[in-house]
Amino acid sequence: MTLEAGTDPQAGRIAAIVAYHQRSKHHLRRYAPGPGELDWANQPDPFRTFEGAPVVELPLAADTLRESFDTVSRGRGVALRPLDRESLAILFELSLGISAWKAYGASRWALRCNPSSGNLHPTEGYLVCPDLAGLAGGVHHYVSRDHALERRATPAEAQWMRAFPAGGVIIGLASIHWREAWKYGMRAYRYCQHDCGHAIAALAYAAACLGWRAFLLDGWGDDDISALLGLDRADDFADAEREAPDVLLWVGSRAADPRPQELLRAIEGARWQGRANRLSLARVAWRDIEIAEQAARKPRTAGMAHGAPSPLPQPRDAACGMPAAALIRQRRSAVGFDGVTTITAQAFFTMLDALLPRAGLPPWDAFATLPLAHPALFVHRVTGLAPGLYLLLRDPAVLPLARQALPRDWLWQRVPGCPEHVPLHLLAHCDTREVAKLIACHQDIAADSCFALGFLAQFDAPLAGGAWVYRHLFWETGVLGQVLYLEAEAAGVRATGIGCFFDDEMHRLLGAAAAHWQSLYHFTVGGALDDPRLTTYPPYAHLRR
Ligand SMILES: Cc1cc2nc3c(=O)[nH]c(=O)nc-3n(C[C@H](O)[C@H](O)[C@H](O)COP(=O)(O)O)c2cc1C
Repeated sequence: MTLEAGTDPQAGRIAAIVAYHQRSKHHLRRYAPGPGELDWANQPDPFRTFEGAPVVELPLAADTLRESFDTVSRGRGVALRPLDRESLAILFELSLGISAWKAYGASRWALRCNPSSGNLHPTEGYLVCPDLAGLAGGVHHYVSRDHALERRATPAEAQWMRAFPAGGVIIGLASIHWREAWKYGMRAYRYCQHDCGHAIAALAYAAACLGWRAFLLDGWGDDDISALLGLDRADDFADAEREAPDVLLWVGSRAADPRPQELLRAIEGARWQGRANRLSLARVAWRDIEIAEQAARKPRTAGMAHGAPSPLPQPRDAACGMPAAALIRQRRSAVGFDGVTTITAQAFFTMLDALLPRAGLPPWDAFATLPLAHPALFVHRVTGLAPGLYLLLRDPAVLPLARQALPRDWLWQRVPGCPEHVPLHLLAHCDTREVAKLIACHQDIAADSCFALGFLAQFDAPLAGGAWVYRHLFWETGVLGQVLYLEAEAAGVRATGIGCFFDDEMHRLLGAAAAHWQSLYHFTVGGALDDPRLTTYPPYAHLRR
């Protein structure tokens, strides 16, 4: 690695996060340190609640939305919904809400619109809002199981209303790292960041269903976020698992960029209610995660320089007339692929096109930073396209850098039939099924699909901007993953995120020059096999609302 710790604290933090990244890699002969076996007695409760906080039930109203996925994802004039309790209920229902319950024997577990590594769901959601019809202004915590808000903070009304910009609300995300660490140990910090990226994109799509847009408030520091959401209230989390601040999004009918100063001043004297529930009786402290969390803490900044996405032609329709709300809730991870389903080259190019950033389309307002992650693709079953290794450069300007970073003798050929603005390069013609499976920790899903991929991210150059950029890189891959999940459903196939992969095997295959580019998240898309042993139940039948 080129980044060295010195006397400069910033450099020390960067070195610490890079060291975490190295230590949390899986290797062919040695997995990253984990718990060994699962301590079922201490499996974390997937639902956080704040006992004593007043509860506001939300209506289940997502089915009232009829706009198709094509209309929503291609930004074709979705009717603008009012900013009220019902619309916010839809926002949560279609992003962090439950999408189904699964049962096998005596076990029963919830699935959500946002996916999560191991279905452990470390991501908690908060609503920060002004007084709205049917909803008091302040800070609320979302409980997906109950589709309800818990009112955590009630600030002084006049000051709060003055501080709050018009036309939207703030959604806050926070992670309970222990939920993932319970199963995955040291590597869990990465998975929490992936999950956060998925949640950011899930919120952006849900906002688009309402005719709204979502913007990352990336100037806020982690201490600001903690203070606003009440994550730093030690007494409220006395014996409960802490929540680490992730990010705030502005969500609404018009853009705004609320600054920390005014809102934090207005929340200072607020009345807080509720105590966090304890999720496990006993916990293991993963020191490496604590170190990573400290190193990657984000200070308040001026906001990241957003590269204006180059004007691209409108992406082709996914040709999916299904209501977006239904498609979002039917999104699932495939647990196996049939090894025979093919997709057309056209469908493949449309999915790749949807990964290119476009201002005004979900989820790109919510993640408008310069593209740094680029899918390296193992193409297995795409009719009209030779099997082989391909690379989509989401920013065509990085081609010279990519050629430098991947020094092997690749073909670097543009792909006939692929739209001009989709910078897809053929690296090699070959059967990549075995190597894709090997790299994905021997998982068949990487070989039996239509295609698999690793998101290869520019690494040490962006990290020089601060250790916290590490989290943004993972969020970017999570955002991309959510696009793929939904586009795959729209194309009649299914996707699965792959957090378990042998990092350096991927780099060795591509010839990625050591520290400069790193593969941060893998994915696979194909014809799904259902597990007939599982029974599916509707998401909110238990509420009888
Ligand atoms: C970051 C991340 C990593 C994942 N890694 C794997 C994996 O390595 N193998 C796998 O079969 N599924 C993987 N999954 C899929 C999850 O197991 C799945 O999202 C979870 O069980 C919830 O199911 P759902 O996506 O159908 O809602 C991953 C998902 C995410 C978000």
